[in-house]
Amino acid sequence: MKNITIAIDGFSSTGKSTIAKELATKLKYVYVDSGAMYRAVTLYAMQQNLISEDKIFIKDLIKVLKDIKLAFKFNVILGFAEIYLNGVNVETEIRNMKVSRLVSKVAEIPEVRKKLVEQQQEMGMNKGVVMDGRDIGTVVFPDAELKIFMTASAEKRAKRRFDEFMERGEQVTFAETLKNVEYRDHIDTTRKDSPLIKAEDAIEIDNSALTRKEQFEKVYKLAIEIIESV
Ligand code: DC
Repeated sequence: MKNITIAIDGFSSTGKSTIAKELATKLKYVYVDSGAMYRAVTLYAMQQNLISEDKIFIKDLIKVLKDIKLAFKFNVILGFAEIYLNGVNVETEIRNMKVSRLVSKVAEIPEVRKKLVEQQQEMGMNKGVVMDGRDIGTVVFPDAELKIFMTASAEKRAKRRFDEFMERGEQVTFAETLKNVEYRDHIDTTRKDSPLIKAEDAIEIDNSALTRKEQFEKVYKLAIEIIESV
């Protein structure tokens, strides 16, 4: 059977990565979390004091982009690839509230997007990849055989993210989490370079009322239909 490329885009906390990971495992494909790459660049900018809540030194960040090496290494215990920033595993650190608050600002920078899109395209060169993000079906893999666009209400998504924060013991309120989700929706959909939009040929799935299993089955069925037809 021929390998295909699967692009899963959508708003933050729609459960894209959960579905993408499950799909990749089931199809024995490579899973790439493109959001993790934007988060890792943000973490690097934080470590270099190039970004804070009220300031971002865009020119300086662009200058040091060449020093940022991102890699994914498969963790057999977790069953998916974790992200490494210059050789250090930052999979957990990039999910904290501070990175979540700052990442949209970094993801707006065209030079950052260019660098990451190139690396993403390289990772998907041989197909057999499931990649999730915001611009995968529109910019990274416009020729992907299967494009999914996931949506869910902001409240539902904030509740999911809030539960994750609670599990990790982060000190945040639900109101703060909801505000962050809405803020990121706004920046993601209104930025000049590669805003979050549904590709014309993407299949939209609103998962507000779907269980994880129902959602997975829907996407898996679509993938198999396409794989069998190519
Ligand atoms: O999927 P996520 O919430 O981990 O993504 C983090 C941020 O990165 C999000 O605010 C938007 C940005 N992003 C992007 O601009 N393009 C992508 N392909 C993936 C993520």
